[in-house]
Amino acid sequence: MENRRDFLKKGAVAAAALSIPSAIGCVDTSPIRGKVAMKTGRTGEALVLWFSQTGYTERNGKLLAYRLAKLGMKVTASEIRQFDTKGMGDFDLIVVGSPTFYYDTPTYVKKWIGTLPELKGTPVAAYVTFGGPEGNQHNAACSILECLVERGGVPIAQTAFMNMSAFPLSWSGDKVHEKTWMSRNLPNEGTYDRVREYAVFLALQVKEGKGAEFAKRVTLRETSIWFNPIWWTKKFVKNHSILKEKCIECGKCVEKCPVDAIDLSAPRVDRETCVLCFGCINNCPVEAVHMEYGGEKVIGYRDFMKMKNLSVKEPAELTT
Ligand SMILES: Cc1cc2nc3c(=O)[nH]c(=O)nc-3n(C[C@H](O)[C@H](O)[C@H](O)COP(=O)(O)O)c2cc1C
Repeated sequence: MENRRDFLKKGAVAAAALSIPSAIGCVDTSPIRGKVAMKTGRTGEALVLWFSQTGYTERNGKLLAYRLAKLGMKVTASEIRQFDTKGMGDFDLIVVGSPTFYYDTPTYVKKWIGTLPELKGTPVAAYVTFGGPEGNQHNAACSILECLVERGGVPIAQTAFMNMSAFPLSWSGDKVHEKTWMSRNLPNEGTYDRVREYAVFLALQVKEGKGAEFAKRVTLRETSIWFNPIWWTKKFVKNHSILKEKCIECGKCVEKCPVDAIDLSAPRVDRETCVLCFGCINNCPVEAVHMEYGGEKVIGYRDFMKMKNLSVKEPAELTT
C-alpha cells in the first residue's frame, strides 16, 4: 500500500519530469538489432500473434495473416492468450502485435514474449495500434522488438496503425468527450492498405534475408513512462466494481483481464492488481462494470460506440 509520503514523493518526481524540456525529443537510444545471425533459407511458415482488448490489433493481425498466406506462406495466427508457447514449432517469421497502452506496449505482453522458447535467429517483426498522433507508438513497437531480440529473434520491421482510441477516460466527461468525438479515427481501407503493404514488405524481407535496426526516441512521452502513468491514473479512478444487480456472469471481463483481478463469485475487482487497461468496462455487454473518473461515470468503449452510432468497417478480405 502506498502511504501519503510515497504519494508526495512520486508527485515531486513527476513534477520534475514534466519540467524536462521537450527539446530532448528525438534523441535515439542504442540500436535494437539481432544478437545472433538471422536464420535464412526457408520462407515457408509465419506466426502472427496479437494481444487485443477491443479488436483493432486483432483485426490487423488477421488481415496480415491473410495477406501473408496469399503471398504463399503457411500461417498460424492467434491471440497470445490462446497460443500455447510450449508446443511452438519452428517458424521463418514471427510477427507480434499489441495496442499501445500508456505510451508503451503493456507489461503483460512484454512478459508474455519473455515466455517464448529460444527463437534462434528467426526473423521477427512488430506492429502496434494506437489511438492518437502523439501516442509514443514508435517506441511501443520498439519495446516489442526488444523483447523478441531478448528471445533470440532478429528484427526485420516494425510499424504502427492508427485507430480510434479505446481509452475511456478520453471520452468520459462532457468536455473531453466531444474532443475525442471530433478526432475519431476509425480504420478505413487506407488503414487496411497499409496493413496489406506491411505483409508484402515482411515477406520480401524474409525472402531476401534482410535484418534491420531500430532505436527508441527519447521523447517527453517516453520519459513519462518512468513515472508510472498507470499508478497516477489509478489515483483518479474511483469505485471500480462489478454491479451485482446488472452482471449476467458472462465472464467477458474475466476473460479480458490480463492480470486476473476480477472475481465474479464475489463479485469483486482487486484494485491493487488491476493495471487499468479497461478491458473489463470496454467489453461488458450489460454495463455491469462501474468506475468513476472526476466524479463522473466512465463509459466503456462498446457503449461509447453504440451511443455515437459508430461501427468499424471490416477489411473486405475478412468479411467473405
Ligand atoms: C488503457 C489504455 C491506454 C491507452 N494508451 C494509449 C497511448 O498511450 N497512446 C495511444 O496512442 N493510444 C493509447 N490507447 C489507445 C489504444 O492504443 C488503441 O485504441 C488501440 O488500437 C486498441 O487496440 P485493441 O482494440 O486491439 O485493444 C490506449 C487505450 C487504452 C485502453
